[in-house]
Formats: sequence, structure tokens, C-alpha cells
Amino acid sequence: MKNILVTGCLGQIGTELVKKLRKGYGADHVVGSDVKTTGVEKLGDGPFEILDVRESQTIAGLVEKYNIDTIMHLAGLLSAVGEMKPQLAWQINAGGLFNVLEVAREKRTAIFFPSSIAAFGPGTPLDHTPQDTIQRPATMYGITKVTGELLCDYYHLKYGLDTRGVRFPGLISYETEPGGGTTDYAVDIYYKAITDGHYDSFIAAGTYMDMMYMPDAINAVVQLMEADGAKLKHRNAFNISAMSFEPEEIAASIRKFMPNFTMGYKVDPVRQAIAESWPNSLDVHAAKEEWGFNPQYDLDKMTEDMLKHLKEKLLKK
Ligand code: SER
Repeated sequence: MKNILVTGCLGQIGTELVKKLRKGYGADHVVGSDVKTTGVEKLGDGPFEILDVRESQTIAGLVEKYNIDTIMHLAGLLSAVGEMKPQLAWQINAGGLFNVLEVAREKRTAIFFPSSIAAFGPGTPLDHTPQDTIQRPATMYGITKVTGELLCDYYHLKYGLDTRGVRFPGLISYETEPGGGTTDYAVDIYYKAITDGHYDSFIAAGTYMDMMYMPDAINAVVQLMEADGAKLKHRNAFNISAMSFEPEEIAASIRKFMPNFTMGYKVDPVRQAIAESWPNSLDVHAAKEEWGFNPQYDLDKMTEDMLKHLKEKLLKK
């Protein structure tokens, strides 16, 4: 990787990934792009371009302009928004990836594509979900993720493109909030713990989902992209996760640091149904064996770090 284009760079993952990549590869070699500009100041020095991934000519133009050899394609709608706007989710998530793959095919760039636990659904074994198993998701978001996994495999097999990707679990971070996902409760809870001392969870007690702290997620992306391609048997859609918990367990973790924290429930039936169709816990051995995936944060270590940073961020204002 010499010159990297990151799409959707002002989203939850993008803001932190761009900063990490700029430290490793040089600010001028990492081009951030997004359809909006809100929050662009978070990225610091380095090129930024407006990009709507539905416009393939613009993608091609940026790849040409900056001599891009790797596209990290993060632009997309999350699960709950995708259920509100399924047609738009298809256009942006599936159509955007198709455009990126076509540009990559013509310009011979490598690709990183984030799939998700949402690529699983009814019929999938929910505990220790295997790397290779039934994938019949019931959300448009999940359908676009399975489509993306298959397209990335296809462009590798058919055109020899270096496509790589992971299935992200819920990602927890303090820098940029996620927008419209099902796992967002596990981010919201930390914000509300600091501001209100109380949180009403939209996910019901006892609902387990895979999660990971953002520093581990960012390291995983870089590690996979820098791995020896010859050792990758799967290439795309590696299951990754650092922990699996349900709302009572994250609340208990917060109480270790804030004993007066309280939690109630206002369950959202749409997001609850999505959560119930996703795995409880993924089997991540393929990622460990093929490229050394090795997350560092468990629930309590993450809670301590989240609360520390959010206190600084929210109480300073
Ligand atoms: N975090 C995502 C969501 O909840 C899952 O990939 O939509």
C-alpha cells in the first residue's frame, strides 16, 4: 500500500482509520473522501475529496489523480437505516461497491471491504458461528453485505484483484458516533452513562451480539491489508470479534467504574428483531490462523478506556 483512498472516511470507522493510516503511510498518501464534509476537521492534515460512491467516474478520477493503489471502501448505510430506506441502501451499499470494484479492475488497485455480522441471518448457527456457514440474512443491509462478500471473491477469482475484508461485529468508539446501526446501543450507553447516569436500552436483556473496541478494529484492517496474500485462504469476509455480551453485562461493566449507573429498557422492535437474527458469538479462528488477528481489549478494559475518553470529551464542553 502506497497511496490509499478511503471512502466514507467521516463515518465511525473512517475517521480513526484515516488517522492511523496517515501515521503509518504519510498524510499525503492517504486520501479521505466522503459525500459530506461535517467533521472533516477531525482528520487533520492530508487530502480530502467529496465523493458519492454512486458516481463511478468520480471514483475513477480520484484513483487517477492520486495514483491510488488501494481503496478502503467504507461508504455505506447501516442496518437500521437500511431497513427504513432499503432501495437507497442497495444503491449505496451494493451499487457503490460494484462501482469501486469496476474502477479497481480497470486501474488494478487492491480493495478492503467491510462485511458484517449482518451477513448472517435466520438459519445460521448463532453460537460459535463458523467462518463458512449458512448466510440468508433478513435485512437489506445484510443482503448487501453478502452480495459484497461474493462480489469481492468473484473479482479476485475472475480478475485476480487483491480483495480483502472482514465481517465486523458491533464497533465501539468515542471519536465518531455510528449512525443508524443495531449495535449502536453499546456506544450510546457510554455516552448516556457520562451525561445522564442512566440509559434506556433499545436492545432487550439477554440479547447477545459480537462486539469489538475501535483500536482493535483499526489494527485488524491494517494487519489484514499488510498480510502475505499467499497465506490467505479466505481473503474476504473473515469473522472477527473480541467479545460477546448482552445489555446487562455491559451495564455491569460500567457499574465497576460508575457504581451509581442505572439502566432501563425501551426496546425498539425493529432493531430487536435484527439483533435476534444475528449471531451470539462468532468463531474467529480463520482470522487468527491466516493473518494473526489478535484483539487486545476485553469488555472491562474497553469500558475503562471509553469512560475515560468520553469524560474528557463530553464534560469539557
Ligand atoms: N454495526 C452494524 C449495525 O448495527 C453491524 O454491522 O448496523
